[in-house]
Parts: sequence; structure tokens; C-alpha cells
Amino acid sequence: MANINFTKRDSFGSKFGIIAATAGSAVGLGNIWRFPYVAGENGGGAFVLIYLGFVFMIGVPVMLSEFTIGRRAKQNAFGSFKTLAPGKPWYLVGLMGIVAAFLILAFYSTIAGWTLEYILQSLTNSFSGKNSAELKQSFETFQSGTFRPILWQIIFMGLTGWIVFSGIKNGIEKYTKILMPLLFALIVVMCIRAVTLPGAMKGLEFLFKPDFSKITWGVVLEALGQAAFSLSIGMGTLITYGSYFNKNTNLATTAVQVSMADTFIAILAGVMIFPAVFAFNLKPDEGFGLVFIVLPNIFEQMAGGYIFSIIFFILLAVAALTSTISVLEVVVAYFVEELKISRKKATVIGSVAISALGILCTLSFGNLGDLKIFNRTIFGVFNDLTANIFLPVGAFLIVIFLGWFLGKKIITDELSNEGTLRIKLLGVFLFIIKFIAPIAIALVFLNSVGIVNFS
Ligand code: TRP
Repeated sequence: MANINFTKRDSFGSKFGIIAATAGSAVGLGNIWRFPYVAGENGGGAFVLIYLGFVFMIGVPVMLSEFTIGRRAKQNAFGSFKTLAPGKPWYLVGLMGIVAAFLILAFYSTIAGWTLEYILQSLTNSFSGKNSAELKQSFETFQSGTFRPILWQIIFMGLTGWIVFSGIKNGIEKYTKILMPLLFALIVVMCIRAVTLPGAMKGLEFLFKPDFSKITWGVVLEALGQAAFSLSIGMGTLITYGSYFNKNTNLATTAVQVSMADTFIAILAGVMIFPAVFAFNLKPDEGFGLVFIVLPNIFEQMAGGYIFSIIFFILLAVAALTSTISVLEVVVAYFVEELKISRKKATVIGSVAISALGILCTLSFGNLGDLKIFNRTIFGVFNDLTANIFLPVGAFLIVIFLGWFLGKKIITDELSNEGTLRIKLLGVFLFIIKFIAPIAIALVFLNSVGIVNFS
């Protein structure tokens, strides 16, 4: 038991492995399912512009802060705060992250499970011959079912657990190094198909031409929430991954590269979806069902649709998987290091507990649909609670911790790898994490929960 502290902690083995795993965490359903529909509902181009602003002004600094905490402490999210701030209540931020991981994975695995069903439906050519009403109907029938969506969710959690159980180097790194290039290749193929559709231009215009009259505080909040969710910041995923980086990893470059990769893939997802939506005269603001209803409709009508539908849903599942493992790892690292149980036990307990919670989310589209808390289904509560409350509050506290508590010496040591790297823009970074990021997050957050009102 006690020897856990003496056994060597697992870590990533290579620079590419670090980027693949961390970008794998960031790139997920948030990019390919959520980004296009949120952008679609919030007016397209103008939303995208604000989103980009948040990614670089706030996302990168928060990500870098998490890496700094994780690599310094070399502990799980909870243990990292305990190590860096002994005797202080900062560990609560870590604890909040662990709870957030449970909630996020519970609802995320519902959607991830759907992607598996849709791979199967693509393979069996079941979109063929259906009109849009029928496709919508068949999505709703599946989604509100009991056995099938739960089974898929459990299978997805099983896959996630399998990879996490195998460890950092031999599990997470090994698989993301294969899956991320695959994902990138698939998305490029899909983009080429989309932009060569007749009428594609209108979709690109929707995505890139900002219409500033569409901007409201609601849109600004959505953009911040989307940026936080998409970059996996605010709940300790990146603290946990950062704790597996090695001592010569350049934290700042890694944060910039991962954020750029994540943003690039989100934009590519838009490029693959909107031209197709407009080419087939469909609506960009379908919301939630955008990829499960609108896209099958497109595949049904498009030349080569059978193949492209298979590619697309595999892409979606792969993206989801490299993210779910990062969320489960937060929980598993905590169990292993704080409760001193084996990785195997921790993975089983974590996956089972999360699946149990996840089943409630899955059923909230069906049998439990009438169960409302704060006027939301269980799925809605988990989704809103994490994206709009836990993540912004977590991100806020993380930058405050770094900017006002940890001290400049530790930050400089970490960013310069103990003085071996030249650090540029240190002043800018410190200014952002001390002032800009916390103030911006607080304003947007307080406005959104209605404590202050700008609109
Ligand atoms: N970023 C992932 C996505 O876009 C989801 C995700 C993984 C996440 N880890 C997270 C979201 C931590 C918030 C916090 O799909």
C-alpha cells in the first residue's frame, strides 16, 4: 500500500505522444458535434470570431496554468493542489474537478454511445431511402429507447476503461498516437467532399462572414463556454495530463499547439458540415440533432454518401474516445493516488460508477424524460452545470491560484524548464492570469447567471 509513493509514476514517452494525447482530449464531440450546432444557433461568423478571441486570450493561458500546476506537483488534480498549497483549501478546486469529471463523462458517454449506433446504421445503409422526417423520427425513436442506447453507452465506457486501464504510455499515448492522425485524415477527406458540393459557398459564408448584429451577451457566454469545453480546461484534465509530461516538455509551446489544433479541427468540422447543410437547403440551427439528423439526410442525397457516412461516424466516435479517456483518467489518477487502490480497481470502479450515472442521462431522452430539475432533464442539468458553472468557476479559480498564490518563482521555473528555456511574453501571461482572464470569466459568468445584467 504505502509503496505506491515509491513506484515510478507513469508518464508520456514522447513529444508527439504528449501532443496526440492532449489534443486528443481537447478534440472531441465538443468540436465536431457541439461547435457546429452552437455556432449554427448563434449566428455563425460573429460567434466564431468571439470564440477565436476567447481561445487565445483565455483558453491558452488557462491551459498553460493547468500544465504548470500538474507538472510541478506530479499528482492528480486533487493531490496537485494539496501538494502546492499544503493546509489550504485549494484542494477543493481539485475536488470540484473530480466531481465535474464524473458529471461530464456521464452525459458525454450518452452521445458517444449514439455515435456507435450511427456507425452501425451507416454500415447497414439504413439512411437510404428515408426522407428528413423519417430520419428525424428514427433518431428520436433510437434516442428515446432504453436497451440500445444504454448498451452502446456501456460499450463506449468499456472501450474507454480498457485504454485507461492500460496506463499512460501503453494505453492513452499508444492509442491516441494512432487515433489522432486517423481522425485528421478522415476530417480532411470529409472537408474536401463538402466544399466540392454545388452550393458549398453559402455554407462557408455562414461560417466565416461575421454578422455583428447577431452578438448578444448570450452569444458571448456561449462562446466562452464552448471555448472552455472544447479546450478541456477548468476541471483538472489538463492538470492530470500535465502531471505526466516530462521535464523537458515546453509547456507554453504545447499549450499553443494543442489549442491551435483544437481550434483548427473545430473550424474544419464547420467546413465539413455547413457547406453540406446549405447545399441541400437544410437549416444550420437544427441544434442538438445537427449531426444525427441533418447529416444522415445529406449523406442520403450525396454522391458517395454511403462511404462518407461511415467515415463521418467513425470520425465522431474516435474523437469522442480520445476525450473520454482523458476525463476518466482524472478520476482514475485520483483514486489510485489518493485512495491508494490499484489502477485496475480504480478503472473498474470509476467506469462502473460513471456508467451508472450515465444511464440516467441516457434515459433522460426516454423513460426519465419527464423528470425535471430546474426545468431541465437530467442530461440537461449535467450538461449545463458543468459547461456553464463548473468549468468557468474552475478556470477562474485556477488562474487565481496561479496568478495570486503560487508565486512567480515556481511559474518561471516551470515555464523555462528550470531556466533552460528562454521564456517570451512572461509579463503578458502573468497579466492575463492575474487580471484579464479572471475578470473576463467573472463578468461573462455573472452576467449569464443573472447576477449582473449587461443586456
Ligand atoms: N474537450 C472535449 C471535447 O471537446 C471534452 C472534454 C474532455 C472536456 N475533457 C474535458 C471538457 C474536460 C471539459 C473539461 O469534446
